[in-house]
Amino acid sequence: MTKTALKPDMQHGEDAITLLTEDHKKVKKLFADFAKLAKGDGSDKAKAEVVRQICMELTIHAQAEEEIFYPAVRAAIKDDDLMDEADVEHAGAKNLIAQLEAMTPAHDHYDATVTVLGESIDHHVKEEEEKMFPKAKKAKVDTATLGAALTQRKHELQAERGEAEPPVKARKAKSR
Ligand SMILES: [Fe+2]
Ligand SMILES: [Fe+2]
Repeated sequence: MTKTALKPDMQHGEDAITLLTEDHKKVKKLFADFAKLAKGDGSDKAKAEVVRQICMELTIHAQAEEEIFYPAVRAAIKDDDLMDEADVEHAGAKNLIAQLEAMTPAHDHYDATVTVLGESIDHHVKEEEEKMFPKAKKAKVDTATLGAALTQRKHELQAERGEAEPPVKARKAKSR
């Protein structure tokens, strides 16, 4: 099977499942970046910057899922056990994120905390991509509408954290 050459529009109408899967990939790469730094004696500054990005990406992603995606999927797929487990996994991740945000790379167990967070996210992402997303598709959840809502909410949350991306118009004008 070949990949379609059509690139999804990053700003408008991106399907919710595509958008969430892209976030998962982005975070997986950040964890891999951290592992390289930890293995190769990367500077504390470099480690802290990667961890800052990991915590920010995960926090925004989880909040957008909880507010917009999970309620719609829970209502549609009739699998409360699966959705409850996802909620508990989010709570576990938030706990580790809070610990990391209170630490510096000089702390004991800093690297281990990042590694354990990465492993728990790996597991969670697998459950979403292999169980929740297929069930949502099968239940004909309106992933197009949810995708638009997720994009908007993510932008708001990024702006609140001072991580705002430039508005679409400004970015287009700039890139000319
Ligand atoms: Fe997710
Ligand atoms: Fe999630």
